[in-house]
Amino acid sequence: MKYSLAFRIWHWLNALIVTGLLATVFLRKTFLSWRDNSEILMTQLAQMQIEITTEQAAVLAKAIRAGMWEWHIILGYALVLLILFRIYLFFFDKSEKAAFSSLDLHKKAVNVSYYIIYGTLVFMALSGLAIHFYQELLLSKETAHTIKELHELIFTIILYFVPLHILGVIVAENRDEKGLISSMVNGKSI
Ligand code: HEM
Ligand code: HEM
Repeated sequence: MKYSLAFRIWHWLNALIVTGLLATVFLRKTFLSWRDNSEILMTQLAQMQIEITTEQAAVLAKAIRAGMWEWHIILGYALVLLILFRIYLFFFDKSEKAAFSSLDLHKKAVNVSYYIIYGTLVFMALSGLAIHFYQELLLSKETAHTIKELHELIFTIILYFVPLHILGVIVAENRDEKGLISSMVNGKSI
């Protein structure tokens, strides 16, 4: 057994939740962008002889986006739970992974990329919670805004990791680690 059932469940739930979080960001920046949609609302309403101010258009466009963005927070809470689950696995899991020192250079680099992504996920969860609960945490609006900018900056790491990771495991599967991807499904050693 390479990966325990619990570890595999963690991996695939994590993959689903992170992809979902990226999807909400994608929608917020594209089809549900309040800037784009407030312009659409203003032009369409003008054609119906209804004049609204840019402020009113922004209120409407943000209201349309709100229901979708709630999912960022819901999936965000799920990510927090998954991080706690991963910490539990770190101490109690029975997966058989090789010791870091016994790995070749390539696998060491791959493992370092996992440490980076774990650190990044922890940062995203803590900063996300801090922005969401800034009032309860008695943070000023400016501090919350700075944290939001860091949250958005560090998001880039996740954005690049996900496709590179998928590409990486597909390449490894086809070179010298045949069965790598199915080992994350069936848990068998390769
Ligand atoms: C279809 C998509 C995906 C496939 C096929 C896949 C497959 C795999 C495989 C085969 C491994 C083991 C690789 C190894 O031994 O080095 C792995 C590890 C890992 N994957 Fe994915 N993955 C996918 C998506 C994701 C996503 C979206 C995330 C989100 C962050 C993710 C996070 C991780 C992490 C953190 C590890 C390291 C686990 C550890 O050893 O601690 N994966 N993945
Ligand atoms: C992989 C994890 C995450 C990624 C990639 C991510 C990504 C992002 C990005 C890119 C933004 C900026 C959106 C924009 O202004 O265009 C954002 C905002 C935000 N995120 Fe996250 N996030 C993650 C996790 C979380 C978590 C765990 C929470 C909290 C539970 C959270 C809560 C928030 C909040 C409150 C905002 C500010 C929204 C606003 O200004 O109205 N995020 N996130």
